[in-house]
Formats: sequence, structure tokens, C-alpha cells
Amino acid sequence: MRQKIVAGNWKMNNNLDESKSLVKKVAKSVKKNKLKNTRVIVAPTFVSLQKVASKAKGTKVEVAAQNMHFAKNGAFTGEVSAEMLKSVGVEIVILGHSERREYFGETDEILAKKVDAALENKMEIIFCFGEVLEDRKSGNHFKVVESQLKNALYHLEAKSWKNIILAYEPVWAIGTGETASPEQAQEMHAFIRKIIADEFNDDVAENVSILYGGSVKPNNAQEIFGKPDVDGGLIGGAALNKDDFKAIIDAI
Ligand code: G3P
Repeated sequence: MRQKIVAGNWKMNNNLDESKSLVKKVAKSVKKNKLKNTRVIVAPTFVSLQKVASKAKGTKVEVAAQNMHFAKNGAFTGEVSAEMLKSVGVEIVILGHSERREYFGETDEILAKKVDAALENKMEIIFCFGEVLEDRKSGNHFKVVESQLKNALYHLEAKSWKNIILAYEPVWAIGTGETASPEQAQEMHAFIRKIIADEFNDDVAENVSILYGGSVKPNNAQEIFGKPDVDGGLIGGAALNKDDFKAIIDAI
């Protein structure tokens, strides 16, 4: 049965003390939750990863990095490798976030290399993708999403998909308060699941968790998460407030 997941992408927020405090509050807030088949993940910045990972150890909260480079090491100033993330106890990484694509020029080809490097290091990947407003307005959103998945993930073998979590994040909904409607989310998630079944097989498609991201809040989470092909959320702003994040977790 595919997993339900609520992941908080803290983006460039929280210094070390704030990060340690927030992960402790999140861990405390879900301590009594049964959670069952639900995973709770937080993604701090690089500077807080090791401390947050050690604070999360033994709790119901897992920790992810927000990015990584595809090289093992070398002359890549400012970058961090998969092996370095593993060395501080981090085994999950967010790749392909629209802000990385937009502000740091991450192409599908670069992301395919990052996916390979993460899998070679036995990491789990939260792979982000999604269309911009112009694509949706012109009706190209399905074509864009399929292309993003094809260019970065279709070279993988079926067995590698057990380490992939998908996060559909329509760019026009990120940080805007313009959340996709539950119907829009379901329509795209069902499309994604179908094209994966066609390209790989039903088992891969049925077992991959597909998260929705883009202005998920306590007041809309339940309806979005209630859709059959929505397996949780990748949360930005609301993840920075432990009560809002808890309310979203409780909505799954
Ligand atoms: O990665 C999650 C993020 O892009 C969504 O941000 O603030 O719209 O929840 P937000």
C-alpha cells in the first residue's frame, strides 16, 4: 500500500536554533499521533541538517535535504554531495523544486544526473515538477509535466521507483495562496499515475506516492488529501508554523 506523506520544505528559513526548536516542536506534536501509514518529513537548510537529523532520531519525524549536487566531490563551490548528506544522517533529498529550476538553472538533464547520484547513494528522492501559469492557461500542463517526468525519471529501472516520491507543484500555486483546486490536483495526479503505469507497470504506478504542493494550508488540506490519487503534501510556508503543520498532518 502506498505511503501517505506530509513533508515540510522549510526553504531558506530558520537559523540553527530556530531549526532545532521547530523540529522538536513538530516531533512533540505528532508524538501521540498513530500516523500508521503516514510519514512526516521536514527539510531544513544545509547548515541545520546534522543537528535537526540528530534531534529527529528516535521520533516520528524524518529529515530531508532540499538539494544536492550530482558529483561525488570536486570543484563545485557551495555545493554538497549525496555522500556528504549521508554522512550527517540524511537519506532523503528534495530534487527539482521549481525554485531550483527557475533561480539556479536546473534543467531536466541536470536533474536526471542528480536522481542517479542520489539513487547510487541509496537515498530516497522527493522529485518536484509542475507547470507554470502560462502552460496551464494554454492547456499545455499535461505535456509539460509528462516531459519533466520523462526527461528526469523514465531512464530508471522499475525497481528504482521504490526510492522515488513524486511532488506535483504547480508553480502558479507555490507561495501565492492560489491553491490548485482538489479537482485540478486529482486530475493531474491521476494523469501522472496513468503515464507511469503506461511507461513502467501498474505496480510502480500504484505504489508511488504522489504529493501535492502549492499553498496547502490547514483549511484546504483535508479536501485535497481526500482525493484518491493525492497521497499527501509538500508544504512550504505552513510548515514553518508547528500548529499549522500539525493541522495539515492531522488532515491526511
Ligand atoms: O516545496 C513546497 C513549496 O514549494 C510549497 O510552498 O508556501 O505554497 O506551501 P507553499
